[in-house]
Amino acid sequence: MKTLDVVGLCASLRTGSVNRMALELAGARMPSSMHLDIIEWRDVAPFDADILAAGFPSTVQALRDRIRRCDGVVIATPEYNFSVPGMFKNTLDWLSRGEDQPFARKPVAILSASPGPLGGSRVQYELRKILLFVNAMVLIKPEVFIGGSTAKFDGAGACVDETTRGFVTAQMQAFEGWIQAVQRMR
Ligand code: FNR
Repeated sequence: MKTLDVVGLCASLRTGSVNRMALELAGARMPSSMHLDIIEWRDVAPFDADILAAGFPSTVQALRDRIRRCDGVVIATPEYNFSVPGMFKNTLDWLSRGEDQPFARKPVAILSASPGPLGGSRVQYELRKILLFVNAMVLIKPEVFIGGSTAKFDGAGACVDETTRGFVTAQMQAFEGWIQAVQRMR
C-alpha cells in the first residue's frame, strides 16, 4: 500500500514551541502507512492583494504546491487571544486564494497545546471555521486538546504523559481512515 504523505504545519514560530512538540508526537505516533513532513512558512510576507495581482510570491507558491501534492495535513496550533496566531492566519489567507487553492477537499487534522487548562479549545473552532471556507475536509473526532502542556513534554520535547500519547495515537489512527475515506469519495 502507498505511504500516505502528510504535511505538518505548526502555527507557532517559537523555538521550544509545545505545539511543534505535539506535531512531532503526531508524526511519531502515526500508523506505519503514514509519513509526516513538517514544512515551514516563516518567510511568508504579509498578505497584500496588490502583490497577489502580480502573482503568488515564491514562498507561497511552494506551500501551495506542497500542500496540493500531499494526502493530508496536520496542523498544530497555539491559541492567541482565543484565536489563530496572526502570522499563521496570514499564511492561510494567502493559501486561500486562487481557483486552485490547495486545501480544497484536503483531509486535515487539528491539534492544539496550551499551558492553560483548556488546551486551546477555542482556537480549534476558529481554525475549523477558516478551513470550512477553503473546503478542507477536517477530521471531526477525536479532538485533541493538550492542556497543562508545560508538564506534558520534557526539555528534549518528548511527551511524558501517557494519556496525551494515547489521544494523539488515536487521532492519527482516525486520520488514516479519514484520508482513505476522502480519497474513496473522489
Ligand atoms: C497566548 N497564550 C494563550 N493561551 C491560551 O490558552 N489562550 C489564549 O487565548 C492565549 N493567548 C495568547 C496570546 C499571545 C499573543 C501569546 C503569545 C500567548 C499562551 C500560549 O498558549 C502559550 O504561550 C503557548 O505556549 C504558545 O504555544 P507554543 O508557542 O508553545 O506552541
